[in-house]
Amino acid sequence: MDQNELKSLVGRAAVEYIKDGMIVGLGTGSTVRYMVDALGERVKNEGLNIIGVTTSNRTTKQAQSLGITIKDIDEVDHIDLTIDGADEISDDFQGIKGGGGALLWEKIVADISKHYMWIVDESKMVHQLGTFPLPVEVIPFGAQHVFNKLAAKGYQPTWRMDGDQRYRTDENDYIIDLHLGKIDDPQAMAEELIHMVGVVEHGLFLNRVNDVIVGRQNGPEILH
Ligand code: 5RP
Repeated sequence: MDQNELKSLVGRAAVEYIKDGMIVGLGTGSTVRYMVDALGERVKNEGLNIIGVTTSNRTTKQAQSLGITIKDIDEVDHIDLTIDGADEISDDFQGIKGGGGALLWEKIVADISKHYMWIVDESKMVHQLGTFPLPVEVIPFGAQHVFNKLAAKGYQPTWRMDGDQRYRTDENDYIIDLHLGKIDDPQAMAEELIHMVGVVEHGLFLNRVNDVIVGRQNGPEILH
């Protein structure tokens, strides 16, 4: 199986955890796209009755086009289960997310979810976080100064680009990607970043996930 087939495999496996009547958080990214397609099939073919809360405008558009009912996050008082992708997952289940630029809404949705699941192909499983660039979402005002501070700390920042323009998130913010190589202390890094003025959120998702479904050549593996 190639990487897309593994993504499709875990997307389909995850949808089996969605039960009638649930409020479901829908993540963002190419793996989640497969999951939302499979969810759309269940809604259409089985009459599965769920409410979705999305983590990006992209996912909203896809879900609505498939007939999935979407509510605004502030219209629900909790989320039963959120299924999202990830960019890196370490041996101790810590993660980097935000490769698709949706980290802020993704973390807010994760925060009110009773159960939180990641779906990944096996290439995302690593021993230590940091090979994947760590995304940091910053508001546009004074963003160059935040960038300069990150550079001075030796974090090798680059602007996330969209063609020749800086990438804009669904909140109209910028993303700065940190090229760290390895992150020895993810908790300390998370604390440092969140306390920098101008930083809205970072892509370290620590002590959050309940289950990971990993797409392997011999089938999906569920890790708890
Ligand atoms: C988007 C994310 C994605 O979940 C993450 O980038 C994984 O994406 P993909 O499934 O395309 O590999 O965090 O902000």
